Amino acid sequence: MATEGEPLPLQTPAVRKSRKAVVKARFADEVRFLGSLLRAPRSVGAIAPTSSETAMLMASHIDLDSGLPVLELGPGTGAITTAILGTGLAPLRLYAVEYSAAFCRLLRDRFPGANFLQGDAFDLPASLGEAAPPAFDCVISGLPLLNFPKEKRAHLLQTALDLLEPGRPFVQFSYGIIPPIPLSDPSITVTKSRWIIRNVPPARVWVYRRKA
Ligand SMILES: C[S@@+](CC[C@H](N)C(=O)[O-])C[C@H]1O[C@@H](n2cnc3c(N)ncnc32)[C@H](O)[C@@H]1O
Repeated sequence: MATEGEPLPLQTPAVRKSRKAVVKARFADEVRFLGSLLRAPRSVGAIAPTSSETAMLMASHIDLDSGLPVLELGPGTGAITTAILGTGLAPLRLYAVEYSAAFCRLLRDRFPGANFLQGDAFDLPASLGEAAPPAFDCVISGLPLLNFPKEKRAHLLQTALDLLEPGRPFVQFSYGIIPPIPLSDPSITVTKSRWIIRNVPPARVWVYRRKA
């Protein structure tokens, strides 16, 4: 505990330095993100990494006690990955499919032990390969779904839900006002969160489940 005359812990040079490092890393990610957006606008589909508030809300759907691995789609620079691992999930229990080779290299460096697979999330069987586990606790997606045709989104949802127990969630953030994947299958339900205003742009978290 700090006594009178001592600097408060929040003001120590070490804390100031580590805060500076966090701000620097965040800025570097934003620059990386913008660079990728310019090179592949449809695939990146966002002007900045997801906010920590949105990411934590998405990760809150993980049931650590299930003992099952988690599947992340489109991790980018790792904003949602950070929140997923922040729940206490062991890195070995995280599988993530990312299209960009450059993002995959960055993620492997940043989150040792987690399984980053370079591939197409719209072709999960091929991207996960034979070494991947047959079932997951939940799927958490940062894909820019609205940039893809409706049929492709619907197919992705069915394929992802096939990897989960009935009732377990496919979690997706979206900037839109309507569900990012329109529902035509009566066995699937969807719920939405409040708007997260601090996200750039504001977003909501949508949760799809196959009825148990
Ligand atoms: C909107 S960014 C989100 C990044 C990160 N999850 C976040 O929330 O900050 C979308 C990410 O999805 C990846 N992506 C786009 N299409 C993909 C696909 N078909 N398969 C796998 N990843 C894809 C992009 O490369 C990018 O990293």
